[in-house]
Amino acid sequence: MKKIGVLTSGGDAPGMNAAIRAVVRYGCEHDMEVYGILRGYNGLMQGDMYQMNLRSVSNIINRGGTILYSARSEEFKTEAGMQKAIAVCKEVGLDGIVVIGGDGSFKGARDLSLRGIPCIGVPGTIDNDIGCCDYTIGYDTAMNTVREMVDRLRDTTESHDRCSVVEVMGRKAGYIALYAGIACGATTILIPELEYDLQRDVIDRMRKTQKTGKKHFIIVVAEGIGKVDEMAKKIQDYTGVETRATVLGHVQRGGTPTVRDRVNASLMGARAVQLLQEGKSNRVVAMKKDDIVDYDIFDALNMTKTLDIDLYQIAHDISI
Ligand code: F6P
Repeated sequence: MKKIGVLTSGGDAPGMNAAIRAVVRYGCEHDMEVYGILRGYNGLMQGDMYQMNLRSVSNIINRGGTILYSARSEEFKTEAGMQKAIAVCKEVGLDGIVVIGGDGSFKGARDLSLRGIPCIGVPGTIDNDIGCCDYTIGYDTAMNTVREMVDRLRDTTESHDRCSVVEVMGRKAGYIALYAGIACGATTILIPELEYDLQRDVIDRMRKTQKTGKKHFIIVVAEGIGKVDEMAKKIQDYTGVETRATVLGHVQRGGTPTVRDRVNASLMGARAVQLLQEGKSNRVVAMKKDDIVDYDIFDALNMTKTLDIDLYQIAHDISI
């Protein structure tokens, strides 16, 4: 393994830069040439890449986003796009690629590996929705951002005796909503993994807590449920409590990465290069509890994980 590439693909996530830095530094320190591929698979198809060195990744461990930029590429999903990328890999002489991204990006890595370009996936997405991983790069920072934003919302919500309905990201998963919702003391957390009933889970709970003297309410809603404007209107109509909806949106994807994201991204990035060095291909690096492990990409893509429903129940019990 002499020449490797690294790319970031899909939604960016804080900590991706720390992973890039680890790939570049570990690769250079082990006598490899490392190429930074720009804008994910789009850059791979166009040969848009440059050779990186130890100093190319200075002062990036603290930065959100990705210095390699990111994209979701439709063309790469086609056989023609894939062949373009393979031709570029052969022309440049890339012996392997580290792909930092979510499960969509891993599918691309799997398809490239199947066609003879060794790839290793590193999980990077704020959603924490990759079946084989307990944790993904960016998740911790995103939750801390949500925590900060909702704390701010709580100040104004309390001052006006209002209810705030806050939508957080997570695509079809409720991880950010559940964990950040607990951390923010939300009265109710609504996640796509569990069916909900507005009357039972929101209105009745608000009424119950009103009887104990509570006058302001935070309802955290996962993106997979959405419709927060509509929900806020209904809550106001049914309870008489003035209600505002806030969609936190892409602010959750930015910002300086937390210690946890920086450290895990660094370890996983280095591990990806180690795997390539060992001649391994078509694998995903993952965190299981606090350990770094790796799986075959086919197996990884078939793995599922379930959200901790007990935790949801406890959150429910203590938020009253
Ligand atoms: O996967 C990360 C994520 O931020 C999701 O939470 C969200 O559904 C999606 O990306 C938004 O994508 P885009 O930035 O393309 O609008």
